[in-house]
Amino acid sequence: MPTAANNADLVFRQVRLIDGLGGPSAVGDLAVTDDRIVAVGDLTELPAARQIDGTGLALAPGFVDVHTHDDRALLSDPTMGCKVSQGVTTVVTGNCGVSLAPLLAQRLVPPMDLLGDTPAQYFHDFAAYLSALDGAPPAVNALAQVGHSTLRIGVMDTLDRAATPAEIRAMRDALERALTAGAVGLSTGLFYAPAEAAPTDEVAALAAPLAEAGALHTTHMRDEGDAIHRSLEETFAIGRTAKVPVVISHHKCTGSANHGRSTETLGLIDAARQSQPVGLDQYPYIASSTVLDLTRRWDARRIIVTWSKAMPDVAGRDLDDIAAALGCDREEAARRLHPAGAIYFTMDEADVRRIMAYPHTMIGSDGLPHDSHPHPRLWGTFPRVLGHYAREVGLFSLEEAVRRMTSLPAAQFGLTDRGVLRVGAYADLVLFDPDRVIDRATFETPAEPAAGIALVMVNGRAVWQDGAPTGNRPGRAIRLGELGPKGRSVLPC
Ligand code: ZN
Ligand code: CU
Repeated sequence: MPTAANNADLVFRQVRLIDGLGGPSAVGDLAVTDDRIVAVGDLTELPAARQIDGTGLALAPGFVDVHTHDDRALLSDPTMGCKVSQGVTTVVTGNCGVSLAPLLAQRLVPPMDLLGDTPAQYFHDFAAYLSALDGAPPAVNALAQVGHSTLRIGVMDTLDRAATPAEIRAMRDALERALTAGAVGLSTGLFYAPAEAAPTDEVAALAAPLAEAGALHTTHMRDEGDAIHRSLEETFAIGRTAKVPVVISHHKCTGSANHGRSTETLGLIDAARQSQPVGLDQYPYIASSTVLDLTRRWDARRIIVTWSKAMPDVAGRDLDDIAAALGCDREEAARRLHPAGAIYFTMDEADVRRIMAYPHTMIGSDGLPHDSHPHPRLWGTFPRVLGHYAREVGLFSLEEAVRRMTSLPAAQFGLTDRGVLRVGAYADLVLFDPDRVIDRATFETPAEPAAGIALVMVNGRAVWQDGAPTGNRPGRAIRLGELGPKGRSVLPC
């Protein structure tokens, strides 16, 4: 094995190397010096300051969590136990239209409360947010997006209407400043009240600067239920008009009337991919989670309350039980709990599996780190895909599961030197037991670290070891300017 190194800081020996590209794994060695992988192959002759015997274990590139709401958690809980315990080494923030920066006004409306309680926790200036991450680095790397709803709340006095040309200009100015500072994209949450009155044209006009900057557009679509077909068309149209890659967030078919429609939605995505870059991500559960809002038609068979400002003690209980105890119906109970968050059981397992089996689907947790009783996806997403869906269900090989979490998102977001085991790449690594890895977080006990994750390194430094965070915080805020082209797929179309 040719190697540029003649000694290394650390060598993993006799480990199953899963390189992230999806092909068959092979047992070998991998060496790390400083923050980089310096050699891969048979490194028997290579001396190292430290060695790890990887017999029986697998070594993969660290996982990229493409859909997070970790904007503030990166600062308030920088060891990021919920993520590093799963093998996640890079997170993408600012999803669903909600970002911690740039907030141009001193007010918040739901669902901004998913990120913080008060405007003071937000940043007026995107560059200041990234500098805050530089100054107090988290354990994981971060790519940050700008949220459309955050821009709207900052620029518009009322939100139940389309933005005027002047307001679009003001939002565009703020977006352009953020892109210059290093924002990697613009997210929308057209489903949510602050953005649902925004017409397609508003988003397309706002998305225009993304193309020249080389950024992308992600979307929590207007409708993931009855009108999902129209929402997909809207997403594709915005991508075509603004000439940007689009990513459909947490793809799902919600509501019993729409169960089975993933056949249709994946067909539409496939067709669109013939002429434009379209990506998608998914979390591996049949329940969603967001703010508690029963003015929307959820068609949920079960609702669990994740937090409530009015009645904090009820977090973790079923809304129906709370309603029974209060002697009222679901709607009235939700009103009394407000503001609050919830888990909604609205999906069908067959759709979850069909979407996961689709070769272009990335994995994104959509975890809500500030919830008192969070959806288990916050702690369980990646080990659940590896242990449950790959090993137990057999949806795909372990190598393919790892590809969805590494080289696929790296190509989507333009991370040219992460998401793959090769010489010169950053040493973002996860060492795990392929026979034992599994999520342990449940809807009842959601904050349980996964089993089978032995060691996680970010930029060459351990962040999770022996079942606990190490306290190291080697993560970096990765700027748009450091990234390569986006929206490429390592698979042929
Ligand atoms: Zn969302
Ligand atoms: Cu989300």
